[in-house]
Amino acid sequence: MPTAPVPGETVDLSVDLGRGLVLPNPILVASGTFGYGVEYGDVVDVDRLGGICCKGTTLKPRIGNPTPRVTETPGGMLNSIGLQNPGVDAVIEKYAETWTSWATPVIVNVAGESVHDYVEVARRLDGVPGVAAIELNISCPNVGAGGLQFAIDAGAAAEVTAAVRRATELPLLVKLSPNVADIRPIARAIADAGADALTAINTLSGIAVAPGRGRPLLGNIYGGLSGPAVKPVALRVVYEAAQAVKIPVVAIGGVTSLDDVLDFLAVGAVAVQVGTAIFADPTIPVRLVDELAAECGRRGMTTYRDLVGTALPTKAERPSSKGVEYRP
Ligand SMILES: Cc1cc2nc3c(=O)[nH]c(=O)nc-3n(C[C@H](O)[C@H](O)[C@H](O)COP(=O)(O)O)c2cc1C
Repeated sequence: MPTAPVPGETVDLSVDLGRGLVLPNPILVASGTFGYGVEYGDVVDVDRLGGICCKGTTLKPRIGNPTPRVTETPGGMLNSIGLQNPGVDAVIEKYAETWTSWATPVIVNVAGESVHDYVEVARRLDGVPGVAAIELNISCPNVGAGGLQFAIDAGAAAEVTAAVRRATELPLLVKLSPNVADIRPIARAIADAGADALTAINTLSGIAVAPGRGRPLLGNIYGGLSGPAVKPVALRVVYEAAQAVKIPVVAIGGVTSLDDVLDFLAVGAVAVQVGTAIFADPTIPVRLVDELAAECGRRGMTTYRDLVGTALPTKAERPSSKGVEYRP
């Protein structure tokens, strides 16, 4: 007996992030929330995902921050994992071969404490079968510059992007931090330095207070806020970045439902990453792929790309003298 057509089956969900990185669909999993992809093998069909951003990877192994490292917040969570990972050589040895057997591109999230660190990790990933691209986590302190984060300074962000660009032929995504007054000059500097795409946002810096109120709760004092609570901030950053650059922008921040995906596409994202929501339900990303296809089918669309940028102004707005467009 013929089966009924699946809504959206003929919709083109593919997305080109530049330099040959073409994702089968625009729903990825975010760094730090899906391990190296192998951990969820029994519950998630990884080949249905648009892309996998693996855990932050550094030159040398890192043991991470003191505990406690996570706590729940209203509508989200704070984490201070501290980039615990076995180091780039071990990551390549343990996981790259498995990645070659997947249809889904694996994007290795790279972190470092100096430009040299980032360049060396990128150099070691370059040409490794199974590694489809690099996502630079630049929300890391630059030890040589008094611990100032690369992501909060346009010059430092451009310097590390340009250096990694020279070190590898891999497609290069650079991840923006929301912890800045104005994202636009930073987004432009990164694009001009040779990034193929931007991803936004990383977590918002925050703290929680321990029971008894004698000290902050997290072992590292500071943590990164993520989950639905950060979505409006992520929407604003994507909205501003998408107007500031010509390269594609991939949105991250509080995605749990199809409505969230549609909102991020409307403000100019070409794809979205799902992060914190995976801890509650790892099947969400694949479900969102099906829901997006079905939604396009219902609307009679042959490609989801008609959903991108519908909420952006038709004419570029004049740059604000105040930085962030905050109009109470
Ligand atoms: C436990 C945890 C670990 C994370 N680790 C990384 C990381 O290693 N590198 C990185 O760039 N982002 C990391 N992130 C940030 C996420 O990739 C994402 O940018 C952020 O959580 C916002 O998305 P969400 O609200 O969907 O979680 C981490 C987030 C969480 C919750």
